[in-house]
Amino acid sequence: MFNRLRKYAFRARYYPSLPEGWLSKYQAEELYRMGRENPGPFLEIGSWIGRSTCCIAYGIRASGKYKRFVSVDLGIASEDEWQAFFGQPLAKKPNKDLYLPHINRPGGSIESLKENLRTRKLDHLVEVRKGDFRKMEWGSEQFETIFCDVSHNPREVAANIPGIVDLLQPGGTLVADDIRTPEILKTLLDHFPCKEHRVKEQMFIGRKA
Ligand SMILES: C[S@@+](CC[C@H](N)C(=O)[O-])C[C@H]1O[C@@H](n2cnc3c(N)ncnc32)[C@H](O)[C@@H]1O
Repeated sequence: MFNRLRKYAFRARYYPSLPEGWLSKYQAEELYRMGRENPGPFLEIGSWIGRSTCCIAYGIRASGKYKRFVSVDLGIASEDEWQAFFGQPLAKKPNKDLYLPHINRPGGSIESLKENLRTRKLDHLVEVRKGDFRKMEWGSEQFETIFCDVSHNPREVAANIPGIVDLLQPGGTLVADDIRTPEILKTLLDHFPCKEHRVKEQMFIGRKA
C-alpha cells in the first residue's frame, strides 16, 4: 500500500515535469522504483538530457538512503561531433529539432543534463561523467544496477553489452531500453549471462548469473 502511494506520488508530482525524452510512464516508474528499492550503486549509460537520470535520482531521494549513482553520456557538443560518432549527419534525422538546441548550446548536451538535475535539486545525487563509457578507466568498479540506453539495434547491443556486463556485479540488475524486436533480445541474451529476465514495453530487466 505504502509503495503504491509512492508510485502515485511520482506519477502525479514528478512524471509530468520530467525533462523531455522517450521513456514511457511505465518505464519511468520502473526506474524510479529501482532507484528507491535497489541497494545501488547505480550506473546509467546514455543519460542524454536526463529524463531517465531524474527518475532514478527521484527514487534514490525517496529511499532516504545514500546510494552512489554515476551517469555517463557522450555529451555531444556539435553537429560534427555527432557525425563523427554516429557516422551520419544529424540534419538527416527526422526529429533533429529535438537534439539541435542541446548539442549546439555552449558545452553541449551535458550542460542541459546538469541544468535539468540542478533545477530539480537532484544534482547532488548524481555523479555526471562525460565521454564514451567504453574508453573510460573503470578499474575494478562494479555496480549493482545498470540502466543502459545504448542498445537500440543488434549492432549497438553487440558493441556495448559486453563492456556493460563487466561493470555489473554478480546477481546485479541490468535494465536496457528499446529492446523492440526478437533479434535485439536474442543478441542481448547472447551477450548477457542472465538468471532471469522479463521484457515489458521494450524495457528489459534481467539479473546477472
Ligand atoms: C536514447 S539517448 C538516451 C535517452 C535518455 N536515457 C532519456 O531517458 O531521455 C542515448 C544516449 O546515449 C549516449 N551514448 C551513445 N553511445 C554512448 C557511449 N558509448 N558512451 C556514452 N554515452 C553514449 C548518446 O550520447 C545519447 O545521449
